[in-house]
Amino acid sequence: CARLAVMASGRGSNFAALQAAILNEALPAKIVRVIVDQKEAAVIEKAKAAGIPVTLVDYHAFASRTQAESIILDRLASDRIDGILLAGYMRILSAHFVATYPNRIINIHPALLPSFPGRHGIEDAFHYGVKVTGVTIHYVTAGVDSGQIIAQVPVKIEDGMSLAALAVSIHEVEHVVYPQTLKHLLKEGVFN
Ligand code: GAR
Repeated sequence: CARLAVMASGRGSNFAALQAAILNEALPAKIVRVIVDQKEAAVIEKAKAAGIPVTLVDYHAFASRTQAESIILDRLASDRIDGILLAGYMRILSAHFVATYPNRIINIHPALLPSFPGRHGIEDAFHYGVKVTGVTIHYVTAGVDSGQIIAQVPVKIEDGMSLAALAVSIHEVEHVVYPQTLKHLLKEGVFN
């Protein structure tokens, strides 16, 4: 059974989808820790309700990212985790952090990388006017939304579609593709 940490900054809908799939489909994985960098993030309550321990790391309380990350790395080492799922974690991980878990950190991005990286993938694609955007799952490297792509699912932007409607469609796809990809990765034994 793979011991996983989820790192998130916001609502936590992808965390919830992953946790639901693990339970409902009896996937050989356990989310043993949720790392959060925002004290107001709704994911905190979602994780607590699921009985998963949460560690809040306020980067601003540290002199450097390195120091904040060392707290996280110590925690994850004590938790003996096998891999990390980023689920809306709005920070870049250092090269050192990424090298600690080589090929064991996965991210979801709400656009078709390498288009529209960064924090506003949905909005950026919408405002550019592309007719197709989507969702990408990829391995994490020290770059912004870079790293080998594992899965992509397109989402069409229909004429007259609002940004809000697009966001709903993107999130619906995310909540299917992230659990599916996790299932696939577990089958391949990437966390063993
Ligand atoms: C998701 O749409 C995820 O793809 C995005 O943040 C959202 C988190 O939502 N991530 C990025 O933009 C990473 N660059 P959630 O907190 O409800 O899972």
